[in-house]
Amino acid sequence: MSNKTFTMVKPHAVADNNIGGIIQMIETAGFRIVAMKKVLLTSENAGKFYEVHKERPFYAELCETMSAGPIIPMILEKENAVADFRALIGSTDPADAAEGTIRKKYAKSKGENAVHGSDSDENAQIESSFFFSGIEQF
Ligand code: PPS
Repeated sequence: MSNKTFTMVKPHAVADNNIGGIIQMIETAGFRIVAMKKVLLTSENAGKFYEVHKERPFYAELCETMSAGPIIPMILEKENAVADFRALIGSTDPADAAEGTIRKKYAKSKGENAVHGSDSDENAQIESSFFFSGIEQF
């Protein structure tokens, strides 16, 4: 089990000035920020990142949503990082997100759901490598 996971603050949450509030919840939950930057994806790059969903009906909307403005990708470190972070962010659909989760507080819809969180150690590694080189991780 890896002690790292990958997340992004999504464009609507950046635009709403919620980067700080979200990072505060992440740090308060015991995660350490290993890498962080601000990035504006093209729709094509968003499509590459979410290629696993390319057959899903919402794929085009997902690519547009994720390239609508800058995002904050981060690598996070904590024991049991992937599972603990998925618990901290809550369900994909904010209507199902538990009290106290990031999505309960900051998500607007299934697409504008404030943050992404890797769903496995393998994907955390792949997604981290999409955004960060070795010299950006401390
Ligand atoms: S999950 O957790 O993979 O089962 O969730 P899923 O419902 O399959 O959604 C996968 C990602 O697609 C995003 N999504 C959408 N984006 C834009 N528009 C619509 N309608 C939409 N529906 C789902 C959802 O936020 C998930 O993104 P990530 O970044 O993985 O959370």
